[in-house]
Amino acid sequence: MGRVALVTGGSRGIGAAISKALKDAGYTVAATYAGNDEKAAAFTEETGIKTYKWNVGSYEESAAGIAKVEADLGPVDVVVANAGITRDAPFHKMTPQQWQEVIDTNLTGVFNTVHPLWNGMRDRGFGRVVVISSINGQKGQFGQVNYAATKAGDLGIVKSLAQEGAAKGITANAICPGYIATEMVMAVPEKVREKIISGIPAGRLGEPEEIARCVVFLASDDASFINGSTISANGAQFFV
Ligand SMILES: NC(=O)c1ccc[n+]([C@@H]2O[C@H](COP(=O)([O-])OP(=O)(O)OC[C@H]3O[C@@H](n4cnc5c(N)ncnc54)[C@H](OP(=O)(O)O)[C@@H]3O)[C@@H](O)[C@H]2O)c1
Repeated sequence: MGRVALVTGGSRGIGAAISKALKDAGYTVAATYAGNDEKAAAFTEETGIKTYKWNVGSYEESAAGIAKVEADLGPVDVVVANAGITRDAPFHKMTPQQWQEVIDTNLTGVFNTVHPLWNGMRDRGFGRVVVISSINGQKGQFGQVNYAATKAGDLGIVKSLAQEGAAKGITANAICPGYIATEMVMAVPEKVREKIISGIPAGRLGEPEEIARCVVFLASDDASFINGSTISANGAQFFV
């Protein structure tokens, strides 16, 4: 197939499952991370997928990092904006720093990741943009005014990009995972986790691979008429 895929935050959690699934589907994959060198090295060792370190919150770092990926692997055809963080606090206690860090990574980070690739995709007449949003961007969440704002903003980004890219062979779609069994969710106290699970009609957390399979489909030629859409993968916890 010969297509190249870039997955931000692709060394851990959901991103790692996405990177592996794309590799298994025949893509040459670059996975990025922010600072956890040990996890990234272990991931490369295990999978053979190259990892690159930059902060998605910086346009300059993103543009330079993407230029390096393209010099190493060739033009990027598929970009998965997956890197994301939480800085939870109820609104009356949320600091401007907690607000800004989440905006910089989860929202501006999507702009910084897609924008340096956009003109190349337009020129080549093909591109796939997949943004990993969240159920909490659809329904809001106590303690996550910052996070929910960014994840709702991600949906606005893909709906607009879809309209701009459609005539150029580019699709842009979002996936809204519900609660997925990543380190982050498994680290919460068991009692809290049980309460979360009791609110999921499927009676279980999602698996990172279940999100990865959605990405592989959206990246494929089979999905070329799906553009500007949101796939909710949440075990029936919430309907839009
Ligand atoms: N887990 C869930 O239940 C869930 C549910 C809905 C949506 N999501 C979304 O799914 C995505 C992945 O979540 P996850 O739980 O898999 O996260 P995770 O396990 O915490 O992994 C996050 C990844 O993003 C990278 N990253 C974080 N900040 C970055 C930055 N500023 N620049 C570059 N890379 C950065 C991390 O790099 P390092 O390893 O260097 O830290 C890591 O590779 C996020 O967007 C999250 O909001 C998750």
